Amino acid sequence: MSDELEGRVWEALKTVRYPGMSRDVVSFGFVRRVEIAGGVARVALEMSTHNPQAAEEVRRGVEQAVGAVGGIGAVEVEMNLQRPAAPPAQRAVARDAGLIPGIEHVVAVASGKGGVGKSTVAANLAVRLAQLGHTVGLLDADIYGPSIPTMFGIDERPRVEGERMLPFSRFGVKLMSLGFVLEMDTPVIWRGPMVMRALEQLLGDVDWGKLEYLIADLPPGTGDAQLTLTQKVPLAGAVIVTTPQDVALIDARKGLAMFRKVNVPVIGIVENMSGFVCPSCGETTEVFKRGGGRRTAEVLGCPFLGSIPLDPAIVAGGDAGEPIVVSQPDGPHAEAFRRVAEAVAAEVARRSTPQLKIV
Ligand SMILES: Nc1ncnc2c1ncn2[C@@H]1O[C@H](COP(=O)(O)OP(=O)(O)OP(=O)(O)O)[C@@H](O)[C@H]1O
Ligand SMILES: [Mg+2]
Repeated sequence: MSDELEGRVWEALKTVRYPGMSRDVVSFGFVRRVEIAGGVARVALEMSTHNPQAAEEVRRGVEQAVGAVGGIGAVEVEMNLQRPAAPPAQRAVARDAGLIPGIEHVVAVASGKGGVGKSTVAANLAVRLAQLGHTVGLLDADIYGPSIPTMFGIDERPRVEGERMLPFSRFGVKLMSLGFVLEMDTPVIWRGPMVMRALEQLLGDVDWGKLEYLIADLPPGTGDAQLTLTQKVPLAGAVIVTTPQDVALIDARKGLAMFRKVNVPVIGIVENMSGFVCPSCGETTEVFKRGGGRRTAEVLGCPFLGSIPLDPAIVAGGDAGEPIVVSQPDGPHAEAFRRVAEAVAAEVARRSTPQLKIV
């Protein structure tokens, strides 16, 4: 009887979503314990957030949902808010994080919508930063379809030394991907806690060494991977990739709102597939409307980091295991990615420099 009641309480908890996210608090692993005695349900929650308002919303949601379960007379919610990652001014230096002691800046590459070129931008941005003299790592955190191994032409499994996985090294970038660690029989649909554990492993159990930048290629949308990253490491910020069409821009806005909600600074917007440069005549055709990324950045008050032209050579580069900034280092794309890489580096540096206080 009490098991059945507890089961119904858990079911009710699964209807409570974290504000702004599509997943519920159970699948995120926020519910630590449920105890029922004499019609009183005690629910212990544990989460880390900068946003006390979101935590309050979760508390109210839990009280309401569990309170509506037949047989439950009262609900007591015990809320354990973990010390959140450092506030924006300090968060650029991730050393305190423990999980990744040698990494200075973790930069997430994200989008609200799939297929806009996140992985392409993440790969070329990482290599371009390395070409500019920085020490860089690239973490493929896409749980649904890791693409970094293909983009870098890697088809072997990583070596393990002692307890740690050694990252691959290509074109001056250290690489690790969920694709390397996923077993063939892994279920396609991952529950929140599994995503969390896998990502933790990719961050903490990989011998990244000392890095200035770790670029994280995220799956599209606003799911577990995004939330895990924001909870587990202090992010320097997120680069939002968009294409110029309006619909993609609306989704970019969603991604942006999500990061803002969890207090991750948005480094800026990159517009991908901006215009097609004809290889024979050199003329630019605006396949999609141009300038949307810049306009969105203006409207939303965040930096515009640059635009990347639409070019089949970029697809070929990705498929052949050589990012375009490697295969055509003097081409227009390499130049576009240089501007983006410099804008990202400048924006991260600006945010991590402590403000001088004049008294
Ligand atoms: N500027 C570009 N010009 C031409 N093709 C591009 C450009 N950017 C990306 N592509 C191509 O578009 C496809 C999708 O790109 P990519 O995989 O990087 O997107 P994504 O946002 O990471 O996708 P997903 O949401 O599935 O992770 C790939 O085939 C890629 O080669
Ligand atoms: Mg991708």
